[in-house]
Order: sequence, then structure tokens, then C-alpha cells
Amino acid sequence: MTNGRCFLGLDISTTGAKALLIDEQGQVKGSTTSPLSLSMPHPLWSEQNPRDWWAGMALSIKQALDTSKVPAQSIAAVGLTGQMHGLVLLDESGEVLRPAILWNDQRTSKQCDEIRKRLGKERLIQITGNDALTGFTAPKILWVQQHEPDIYSHARHILLPKDYIRYRLTGQYGMDRAGGSGTLLFDIKERTWSPEMLKALDIPPDWMSTTFEGPQITGRVTAEAAAATGLAEGTPVVAGGGDQAAQAVGVGAVEPGIVGVTLGTSGVVFATTPGPLVEPEGRLHAFCHAVPERWHFMGVMLSAAGSFQWYRDTLAPGASFDALTAEAEAVPPGSEGLLFLPYLTGERTPYPDPLARGAWVGLTARHTRAYLTRAVLEGVAFGLRDSFTLIQEAGLGDIRRVHVSGGGAKSALWRQILADVFNAELVTVNTTEGAAYGAALLAGVGAGHWPDVEAACAGTIKVTGRIEPDAQRVALYADYYPQYRALYPALSGTFATLATLAART
Ligand code: XUL
Repeated sequence: MTNGRCFLGLDISTTGAKALLIDEQGQVKGSTTSPLSLSMPHPLWSEQNPRDWWAGMALSIKQALDTSKVPAQSIAAVGLTGQMHGLVLLDESGEVLRPAILWNDQRTSKQCDEIRKRLGKERLIQITGNDALTGFTAPKILWVQQHEPDIYSHARHILLPKDYIRYRLTGQYGMDRAGGSGTLLFDIKERTWSPEMLKALDIPPDWMSTTFEGPQITGRVTAEAAAATGLAEGTPVVAGGGDQAAQAVGVGAVEPGIVGVTLGTSGVVFATTPGPLVEPEGRLHAFCHAVPERWHFMGVMLSAAGSFQWYRDTLAPGASFDALTAEAEAVPPGSEGLLFLPYLTGERTPYPDPLARGAWVGLTARHTRAYLTRAVLEGVAFGLRDSFTLIQEAGLGDIRRVHVSGGGAKSALWRQILADVFNAELVTVNTTEGAAYGAALLAGVGAGHWPDVEAACAGTIKVTGRIEPDAQRVALYADYYPQYRALYPALSGTFATLATLAART
């Protein structure tokens, strides 16, 4: 039970539909996740049915309300977050036209080349802040245009996954600007759709919905949605933000100078920027933040804690992560000259290469399992340093603090390796509910409980631990890092050939 008001954060991730309730102090009152499955009907494809998202989310909301005993009337606002970049196509009457094509779908290499050709890479980066990547929404739209013209001819609305939930909750077509910038159709300086991008890709501007800043109210829960979820009719729903921007809000990375590092399946280095800065070659993502009038850079590693998970499942099945890291702790930093490349599912930053592969380089007969483990943890840290370095070089040299979160950050050894490889102080925070927590804070701002996002973070997020870099290890890793950096350029041709050979078998 609660006496004050509550805020509800809804996160439609790739693996689950999560509903999280917090109170006015930011205390978690309830959290429920309904699992979601992924469909990969062809190599490189990754899809989900938007109707499954809604069914899962309606169930999670109901259960979160039931188990927390929070009355629906005390929910002052709902905030949305979720997987970015996914393409949801609806017809005139709001019916789903085909399964959503997700952020990790890789079918659109040709469409990415075409977008670069139509705009010119420099102009593309100037407008959108980004290069064309297979994960983004625009190449997926082009793919449907070219491969499924019949479906495309019925399309009238383009949404992102979280915005389909918004549509089902409120009946409104709306989108947050953090998500909008991940479509590659946004003018990030103007924080709105780019007429030039839409024209170049032949996408009718009226298919794109109104966009809003993260805490802005976009609509209210309808009677139909209230019946499906147990929410009160009329509850306001704020814009929220894409999962990375909302995650940053949820760990307090909302001001320039504070960097968020997330060690999830993928790894993310996230830095708030005061203006629409762009990395000239588009190697970093540059998006609008869920914080009004703020932007951010982001580097994404596709297999971060995912590398460790693969390693454990494949080479040390049955061993716990804690047991493996305890072994690795006894091994000297640098793993006696053993390096690991974490490109197990291709890579995004700084090498947008779906064919990149993993490797251990420098194996000797002295290397035991403990060394292999340590090299995996160090390789992921070196890969994240690539993004960290790009962010520093792109004009954000003054990094005051690094907030580390995600499942991998539970390991004290991995946190220390990151601090030493980055040569930066790392901090941990009290909030562990990720993007859903950020969405709930944005709802609290929208409901007027906090005056702005910074105040919401200051009122709820506390530093719980600090990890200082160790000068000796910093110096050692600084000597290893150039060796790590040299490996991808040396091996990328081999990776491409191996992919061709693999396709022959
Ligand atoms: C961000 C990204 C992922 C997805 C899925 O650019 O692709 O974070 O949003 O979580």
C-alpha cells in the first residue's frame, strides 16, 4: 500500500514486457515482467509480433498492480521505454501490417548502402548525426518498400515498439525524440523529422507521428486500455524514451561530464552532450536525449556480458560466474599477453561490421581457464574503451564520473578492470531497475512531482560505491590497448573470408 502517488514505468524490451511502480521517493513498490520470444524466420532476420507486446504488457501491469496493492487511482502518470529502432507498420485503422522488424535484425545492408548513396554519407551524418546501420529503422522501411510493396501500400503509420504500447494505451500516435533520432529520419539539431530524409527515402511525412520530449504528456489511458490493464481511465502517459536514454535517466547520467556504462548482453557507453555534437565519421551514435534540450553520444558493443555468458555456457558449463571471476582474479592483469576480441555477434562501435568475429590472440601452453576468463573480461573492457576514447575525442574530454550498471557490473573484478582500462573513477548507484526506472522518473516529472529530470535523479539516485583506477595497472593496460586496437584492422579481411567460407558448408 502507499499513501502518496506512484509512477509507472513500462519497458518493452526484446526479452520481456516489464511494468515497474515507484513511489514519490523513488522506492520500488512493484515490478513484473512477462517474457517475450523472438522469431528468426530467416538468417539475419529478427522479428516480434506487436500484439504479443501488448498482451504481455497488459498482463505485467495487472500483476504489478495486484502484487503491490497500489490502487490504480494513485498512479499519477505512466512513462514508456523499450527496444529502439524496431519498425512497426500500421494501416489506416491502426492494425498491425506485418511482424515488427527489430533493432538486431541484419537484413538491410543493401538498403544502408542505398541510403548513403542517396544522401551522401557526409550529409546523412550532418542531418541525422549517424551513419546508416542495419539496426536503424529507415533501412527497414526501405526494405519493406522494396520487398513487400503490397504491405507497404497499406501502411499509414510508422511507430517504434514502445510507441505501439502508447497507441494501445491512449489511442494516440506519438513518439519520444530519443526514439525518433534512432530511426535515422530525424534532424537531431531541430529535434524533429527531417523533410530531406523523408523525401530522399520516399516516405510520406504524414506517416510519422508527432514527437515529444521525454517528460511531456502524450495522451491518456482510454476506457478500453483501462479494462485491459487495470489502470484508471484518463491516467496521463508521458513520452518516455528509447531504452538507452531511459537507462541513462535511471542511473543518473543526465548531465554532460557523467558517462553511463552498461554491461548488459550488449555494452553501452553513453555520454550526455550539451548540444547536438556529431562524430564526423558517424562512428558514435548521436541522438536526442530523453532529457529536454539535451543530446547524447553512444557507443554500442554487441556482445559485452554476452561474451562472458557465451564463454561460460560453451567452455565452462555448470561453473558460476562468481567462481570463474574468482579464478580470473588470481591471474595477473594482461593475462600474460593474452587478448580477447569480443565480436561474437559482429560489432557496431567502432566497427559497424556484422561479419566481425571473436578471437583469443596470444595463446600459449601456460594459459589455463583462469587466463581465458580474465582475457574475456579485459577484452570487453578494451572494446568499451574504444567507445570511451571516441567520446573523449569528439569534444567531451571532461568526463567527471562513470556510472556503471547492468548484470556484468555485479562483478567487482570486472568493475576494477573497467576503471583501470578507462583510467577513470567508476561509481555504482542504488538503482538497478534500468530503463523502466528511468521511464518511471520521466512519468514523475510529467506528473509535476519533480520540476525536471535532473531533480528527479538527484532526489532518487545515490552513489553506493566508488572504484578508483590503480596507477600501475592503468600503465600496464595502456601498453596493452594499442595491441588490442591493432587486431580488428589486421583481421577484418580474414573475418569476411571466413564468413563466406562458413556459408559454403
Ligand atoms: C540501441 C539499441 C539497443 C536496443 C535494444 O541503439 O540498439 O539498445 O534498443 O535494447
